[in-house]
Amino acid sequence: TTPRIDFDLKPSAQPVAATEREAMLADPGFGRHFTDHMVTVKWTEGRGWHDAQLQPYAPLQIDPANMTLHYSQTIFEGLKAYRQPDGSVATFRPDANARRFQRSARRLAMPELPVETFIEACDLLVKTDRDWVPGKDEHSLYLRPFMFATEVGLGVRPANEYLFMVIASPASGYFPRGVKPVSVWLSQEYVRAAPGGMGEAKTGGNYAASLVAQAEAADQGCDQVVWLDALERRYIEEMGGMNLYLVRNSGGTTTIVTPKLTGTLLPGITRDSLLTIAEDLGYGTEEARISTDEWQAGNADGSITEVFACGTAAVITPVGHVKSARAEWTVGDGRPGPVTTRLREALLSVQTGQSPDPHAWMHRL
Ligand code: COI
Repeated sequence: TTPRIDFDLKPSAQPVAATEREAMLADPGFGRHFTDHMVTVKWTEGRGWHDAQLQPYAPLQIDPANMTLHYSQTIFEGLKAYRQPDGSVATFRPDANARRFQRSARRLAMPELPVETFIEACDLLVKTDRDWVPGKDEHSLYLRPFMFATEVGLGVRPANEYLFMVIASPASGYFPRGVKPVSVWLSQEYVRAAPGGMGEAKTGGNYAASLVAQAEAADQGCDQVVWLDALERRYIEEMGGMNLYLVRNSGGTTTIVTPKLTGTLLPGITRDSLLTIAEDLGYGTEEARISTDEWQAGNADGSITEVFACGTAAVITPVGHVKSARAEWTVGDGRPGPVTTRLREALLSVQTGQSPDPHAWMHRL
C-alpha cells in the first residue's frame, strides 16, 4: 500500500476578490484565469515523493539549465470539476487520469505518482478553491495536473528530481465559436506520432508537433488538422488534440466508430467514456482502422452520416467539412447531427449530475 502523503497547507493571504472572481467566472473562456492556489509535490531520487504543499498560486523560479527546458521531460493531464445540482462539486473519472499520468510517466522515464496522491492533490485544490467552480451550464473548473524535471544540468538522461503540480482554471467553451461544426484539413505532410514514439503519452512535445500542421490547416481555410498514420498516411488518427468518431448507419443500425488505439493515439478518457455511453443508448460501437478513402466513400453513399471530435476541454465538437490535397467534402449536411448531439447531452448530463451515474464515474468532494 502507498504511504499517505500529508499536504502542508499554506492558504493564500491575498485571494482574488469575490467581485473580481465573479467577473472572471461570467465568461471564463479557456485557460485564461487561474484560481488562488496550486499544489506542489517534489520527487527526489532515493527519497521518493515529499514536501507536498497547497500554496498560493505563484510563478516558479527556473534555473536556465533546468533539464525540462532542454530535453522536455514533461507530462500533463486535464480533467474537470462540475457543480452538481445540490451545490456540491464532483470531478469526472480522476482515477482514469491518474492511471494515464502513470503511463505517460513510464514512457518519459519519469517517476510514477501514486493514483491516490494524484486524486488527493486534485481534491485538495478543488475543495480549497471551490468558489471558483462555475455554476453555469456547460461551465466547469478545468484541472491541469502536470510534472516536469527540476534537476539542473545538460546531460541527457532521466532527471533525478521532479515537481508534480496541479493548477485550476475556470472554463466555458474551448473553441471560441462554441459547438459550431469545425472544418478539418487532412495533413499529408506532417505526422503527430509514429509507432514506437510518444503518441500515447500526454506530453508537451506532441502538442508542439501539432502547431505547424495546425498553421497549415489554417492556411487551407480549415479550423483544425486531422492526423493520419505515419507509415501510409491513409488511416485517420486524431484531430488536433482530440479523438475522432464517425457515425455509421447501415441496415437500420447506428454504430459509432473510432480509430483503434494502435500506440500512436492519445487514449482519451472522453473517447473511452463515449464507447460506454453509446452502448447504454443502444448504439453499436467499434474501434477500427478507418482510411480517408473509406470516410470519403461512406460520406458519398450516405453510410457515414456524422463525424465528431471529443476531448475533455471541448467535450464533443462536430466536424462539418473535410479538405485534403486531393479532395473536399461536407459531412452530412454540415450541421451537428442527432447522434453527436445526443451523445454530447448524455455525457454532459452525467457530468453535471442531471442524470444518474450508472458507471460511478463522478467523484464527489
Ligand atoms: C483535451 O482536453 O481535449 C485536451 O487535449 C486538452 C488540450 C487543451 C491540450
